[in-house]
Amino acid sequence: TCGGPQSNHARATAVAAAKLGLKSHLVLRNSVAAQMEGNAFLSRLVGAEVTNVSAEEYMRIDEVMQRIADEAREQGHKPYVIPEGGSNELGVLGYVKAVEETLAQLKRSKTKVHHVFVAVGSGGTYAGLLLGKHLFDFSAEIHGINVCDSASYFEGRILRLLKETKKRFGLEVSFTKKDLHILDGYVGKGYGLSSQEEIDLIKTIARTEGVVLDPVYTGKAMLGMVDQIRQGRFKAGETLLFFHTGGIYGLFPKRSLFF
Ligand SMILES: Cc1ncc(COP(=O)(O)O)c(C=O)c1O
Repeated sequence: TCGGPQSNHARATAVAAAKLGLKSHLVLRNSVAAQMEGNAFLSRLVGAEVTNVSAEEYMRIDEVMQRIADEAREQGHKPYVIPEGGSNELGVLGYVKAVEETLAQLKRSKTKVHHVFVAVGSGGTYAGLLLGKHLFDFSAEIHGINVCDSASYFEGRILRLLKETKKRFGLEVSFTKKDLHILDGYVGKGYGLSSQEEIDLIKTIARTEGVVLDPVYTGKAMLGMVDQIRQGRFKAGETLLFFHTGGIYGLFPKRSLFF
């Protein structure tokens, strides 16, 4: 699979592969300074083979991964290529399952949730939550905060992904742009780049809630949710649920921004 130098998905894939006794090969967008920190360190620790590619080569990442897979096949291995972020029809099912689990927890705690917030980086998480909402009759509105690109880019990507998932699993669902709620405006300085406001919010949430957010995804998404609350977008008595999607190892290469 592939990702940026601090890809959480790539690290999680490498960890899962180690557990299952599989070899993992990660193709990471080159970044020498971040190479052995946080996720990049952990991926290597669990035995992933890492190929660094330039940002230019990364534009053709699917071809690059296919080439590596062909080489592995020639050597007698059985490669399985996972796209960026694990965002394919199968990956979507992860967050369909998360909706099922969430609903069971909400039922146990007799809590009604009106709005869900989540970070959007390659679209699979949001697609899974939306599909899960429909399959399990979850009434909450799902809001995605894009941490890169734009809302319209992700609307297209998520609708495509949902269409492929529907086809692969023969589902009787269909979605249009109107079903999606992607909130633009919180990319800040850009993908993987942090503003002072984001850093300050991560510190505040850590110190007031004991919840550690990451600078690339959940920090930006939390800022989006807090900003929407400040703008008075919700009615009194409505409950908001923030999905913490992980990623805290991405904090370590950024420690100098905090203190
Ligand atoms: C910690 C974390 N949260 C959220 C996301 C966004 O998920 P997706 O790529 O499925 O949109 C990612 C990855 O992109 C991530 O690493």
